[in-house]
Amino acid sequence: MIASAPIDKLMQALRQNTLVKIIEQFEETYPDIHLKDLVVDRVGPGRMIEVNGQEVMNFGSDSFLGLDQDQRVLASIRDGLDRWGSHNGASRAFASVRSNADAEEKLAAWLGVETVLIYPSVTLANQGAIPALVGRKDAIVLDEQAHNSMQDAAKIAKANGAKVATFSHNSPKALRKTLESLRPYRCALVCIDGIYSMSGEIPPMVELDEVARSLDAVLYIDDAHGTGVLGEHGRGTVLEHLGSYDNCFVIGSLSKAFSCAGGFVGCPEPFRRLLQIRSNSYIFGGPVVPAYLDAICTVVDILGSPEYDTLRDRLDRHVSRLTSGLTDLGLTVLGGHTPIISVRVGDEAKTLKAGKYLFDRGYYVQSVLFPAVPYRGGVLRIQCNANHTDEAIDGLISAFDALNVEFRLA
Ligand SMILES: Cc1ncc(COP(=O)(O)O)c(C=O)c1O
Repeated sequence: MIASAPIDKLMQALRQNTLVKIIEQFEETYPDIHLKDLVVDRVGPGRMIEVNGQEVMNFGSDSFLGLDQDQRVLASIRDGLDRWGSHNGASRAFASVRSNADAEEKLAAWLGVETVLIYPSVTLANQGAIPALVGRKDAIVLDEQAHNSMQDAAKIAKANGAKVATFSHNSPKALRKTLESLRPYRCALVCIDGIYSMSGEIPPMVELDEVARSLDAVLYIDDAHGTGVLGEHGRGTVLEHLGSYDNCFVIGSLSKAFSCAGGFVGCPEPFRRLLQIRSNSYIFGGPVVPAYLDAICTVVDILGSPEYDTLRDRLDRHVSRLTSGLTDLGLTVLGGHTPIISVRVGDEAKTLKAGKYLFDRGYYVQSVLFPAVPYRGGVLRIQCNANHTDEAIDGLISAFDALNVEFRLA
């Protein structure tokens, strides 16, 4: 059929896109094993979820400390709804609820930064802050594996006239070369993840910082997966590895370990106003739902208390048990020092089939394929939570054992 209406032409054109072609071909070839865009019908008890009438243990949640089920967090959301209603229907450029200011103050004090600015998500923090921080005379350099939201933000900055380039993953030498190749510039922003969410790797921050400082550059560290769960009292990877926030912006998530909603930029005080004036996602978009800001304050209190160590101990025990169990099976385990543990499979179809095999045995892990990882670099990504049980961890290891026998992953 020849497409005639403009909307049909648009659809046909999109179908020619390489990524769309790859994904549509997967969905057509493997309709039963493509465990993507799942609809969860029920959550609990514990980490159980029900999908398509099947109960599976959820190893795909970023709620690393299990705070999504914490009664104090849930009570704060309920109280917040009574206090503020369902939403504050205005851009923050006009008005924010008091809880927004309280949450920012508490986050800044907990993190040890001068100030924090909350955005509705980390994606919107990056898309607001990165183009806001640079101008036509400046440069942005990104680790080639930096999160997609920073790569997209850099495209906006590039359209505004900034120079943009990428450097080889985690390589200070490549960073130096790339920055030198972009000179002359006024200032540069070096965008990296605080922990790479597909592999669990932490970048060599000290070495990257040394290079950045020597070439008029500031680090911009998206620590979405480290916020609330790594470092002392969950402050993330940045302070633990760099020892100070002197030459960086630290970006955190309020929806992963925090189990609330939103993202934030932590920075020196003068940047707060500059970001408010220049971040389009802050000015032209809405805020985090107020009730969640009350819950964020509750989570900061939990993280700052001795209870954090108890939660972390339980999580660390699970991570060690799982990592050593999988390694003993001879599997290639990536990461393992953080709650994100990936098992390398490689081939795309095999990764999907392996994920479905585990699902059918009662365990949901994420089958991660290109473009989230390199082509033919498929992994099974496991997210370990403090409120998983020992039985669930051991059960997952046994399921991997059976998978390994059948699929010869080792
Ligand atoms: C490093 C990083 N940045 C940003 C995001 C997106 O966060 P949000 O869902 O808050 O937009 C993620 C999500 O996994 C991430 O890993």
